[in-house]
Amino acid sequence: MSESSPESPPDALRAFRLDGRVAIVTGASSGLGEGIARGLASAGARVAVVARRRDRLGKLAEQIGGLAVGADLGDADQVAGVVPAVAEGLGPPTILVNAAGALLSPDKAEDESLDGIRRTLDLNLVAPFRLAQDVFPHMRDAGGGAIVHISSISGRVGIPGIPQASYAASKLGLSGLTSELAVQWARHRVRVNTVAPGFFRSEITEDLFENERSRAWLSRNTPLPIDGTPADYVGAVLWLTSEAGRYVTGQTIVIDGGWTAR
Ligand SMILES: NC(=O)c1ccc[n+]([C@@H]2O[C@H](COP(=O)([O-])OP(=O)(O)OC[C@H]3O[C@@H](n4cnc5c(N)ncnc54)[C@H](OP(=O)(O)O)[C@@H]3O)[C@@H](O)[C@H]2O)c1
Repeated sequence: MSESSPESPPDALRAFRLDGRVAIVTGASSGLGEGIARGLASAGARVAVVARRRDRLGKLAEQIGGLAVGADLGDADQVAGVVPAVAEGLGPPTILVNAAGALLSPDKAEDESLDGIRRTLDLNLVAPFRLAQDVFPHMRDAGGGAIVHISSISGRVGIPGIPQASYAASKLGLSGLTSELAVQWARHRVRVNTVAPGFFRSEITEDLFENERSRAWLSRNTPLPIDGTPADYVGAVLWLTSEAGRYVTGQTIVIDGGWTAR
């Protein structure tokens, strides 16, 4: 084994570096997307951060030396503007992380409106697909790239007490999209994977973690006796977007403390 020092990391660690890469992270104004944007930047990538809240994006972009791109990803025209803006501002992107998402229609399945179902699919499934289409030519021309969708354990299993049928359908749809794009684009060395988180503290789960009863329910249903932290999903995204994950494509990686293993 070769010697290593902090100045010269072993090859295994160097494979996680993203120096010189341009990355797009959607949903970066809070929660998982923000953690992922910070993680990719710390590994050397120049990161374009995308969401609706431009003030937050501006601050984050300043801190990580990236680019803020304000866009409502529920709007097809605004989705179409994202990749050209990044290519012009930072250069051709070779990493795309689709983390923007929301549970827009938290009604019982039998009561979900057509509008709620469509808005959920547009944001959680159609926008990631369209962004993947838009980055593909840049990745092909660069000789490769990595796309990671952030889905959910919802869809893989039902979650009792929190109705989310269209959300679940949109999230499991990302896994189907992942396998198909991975196979179609493998010959261009464009890899496509999905990370499916369990419950992590963020704006959408804040109430669950704050309320004593739901907190106990989360603990009861999570075999590992610890809370997940940003490091737990950032590590997976770094692996999948860097050379460390160069032989991995078409997969859905579940990070849930064992929730779905029961
Ligand atoms: N936290 C969890 O336990 C958990 C579990 C499983 C899956 N997930 C998934 O992880 C991803 C991030 O969620 P989070 O927990 O970090 O929640 P969050 O803190 O609410 O973050 C959601 C992000 O999506 C962005 N977003 C929402 N609607 C958008 C729109 N129309 N256009 C553009 N951006 C939009 C939000 O930014 P703006 O409001 O500024 O637009 C925000 O940056 C989501 O896809 C979620 O489904 C989270």
